[in-house]
Amino acid sequence: MVSNGKAAEHPAASGPRTARRSSRIEGIRAASPDKSISHRAIMLAGMAQGISHIEGLLESADVLATAGAVRALGANVERTGDGQWQVKGAPQWRSPDGDLDLGNSGTGVRLLMGAAARFDLTARFTGDVSLSSRPMERVLAPLRLMGVTTIAADGGRLPVTLNGSTRLNAITYTPPVASAQVKSAILLAGLGAMGETVVIEPEATRAHTETLAPLFGADMTMERDGAGLVARVRGGKALHAADVHVPGDPSSAAFPLAAGLVAGTGPVTVTGVMTNPARFGLYRVLEMMGADISITPAGSRAGEALADITVRPGTLKGVQVEPHIAPSMIDEYPILSVIAAFAEGVTHMTGLAELRAKESDRLAASAALLAANGVKVELGEDSLTVHGMGQGDVPGGGLVKTLHDHRLAMAGLVLGLGAKDPVTVDDVAMIATSYPGFFDDMAALGADIA
Ligand code: S3P
Repeated sequence: MVSNGKAAEHPAASGPRTARRSSRIEGIRAASPDKSISHRAIMLAGMAQGISHIEGLLESADVLATAGAVRALGANVERTGDGQWQVKGAPQWRSPDGDLDLGNSGTGVRLLMGAAARFDLTARFTGDVSLSSRPMERVLAPLRLMGVTTIAADGGRLPVTLNGSTRLNAITYTPPVASAQVKSAILLAGLGAMGETVVIEPEATRAHTETLAPLFGADMTMERDGAGLVARVRGGKALHAADVHVPGDPSSAAFPLAAGLVAGTGPVTVTGVMTNPARFGLYRVLEMMGADISITPAGSRAGEALADITVRPGTLKGVQVEPHIAPSMIDEYPILSVIAAFAEGVTHMTGLAELRAKESDRLAASAALLAANGVKVELGEDSLTVHGMGQGDVPGGGLVKTLHDHRLAMAGLVLGLGAKDPVTVDDVAMIATSYPGFFDDMAALGADIA
């Protein structure tokens, strides 16, 4: 039994990589485990009474950073096998001895600030250069309304010192941005507030916290309201241990499936992909683009429906991607932009202001990625237009700046698999934050990435 809490994986790839047209891209891979659910499972187990088992945890740098932080807050978090984790929760978290370094992970840091808020502790949160440039005030403002005190660096950035309280106020809050991270931070704090905390979302974002927390005994509910969602949590209920089997990540599955669409020589299948509608926007857009895609139900895990998804190469057409779909595919715009380059006609994506607050300014960076590879794009304040060149006609040959952003690195490599000339990305290290099996999966499908 391995008990040091570290995944015994081969060392993560780093430095530049070049992807080129490959003689074969086809095959079947199991989906990489979902990042959002992995973070939440560790956090909830870490504050529950008893021993929880998590199966198929995503052992990526982001999730391992969360596991390390939850351990520093008092829980016993152990790796017992491949993707198998055992967590003995600490129903009262304590002040950690050192900083809580969440690396590259916005989900890790924002959700943990909410989760830690209801305890009598002081914690200082830090992160890497990308995370340290991202806005934290969106989470700190509602947490302060609930009763925590915070000290942040200029502009509401990390490092953030948070003083929690065992006497939090319940609040009713409508986040000014559509953000599952903001919603989840408030709900996790609300687990310890006096009364009912309500988060109102005019546009629903992923409801993974709302789905998972009740498995651990939380009094948390959600109600759909048109395109929106109202989530409620009543504070004071003790959490108990639970077992969670993590479903496959639709955001990671997008990369091998995109490779199949733009560079496939036969079918590419990814099995066990979560089809939660709040995460499935990309696949709906691919259908609109005329992609040859089949989605076959494949049971469920942790209350989430799964499917095996198969794509085949074929002609794609440019589409209009409306703002209302953005919350359900917020992480997928870099890879959609790449796919759009291989479509015929123009793809116009709007309502993308939030992309500027991701691991990088993903809106500008996606435009730069395509422009560097001979694709005509127009970048707006909150929109991106891609002039598709059709299958086989994307020039490539450029260098992609990944800006510490895992999804840009993977999108750049997929572009290279279908482009006329090889595409180099400057650094692939960040891919390990979300999809540590990326290179293995792509190699198994035949992708030429060296
Ligand atoms: C996530 C929410 C999204 C997403 C991130 C994961 C989550 O961020 O971009 O990768 O697990 O709650 P926002 O909620 O800030 O949009």
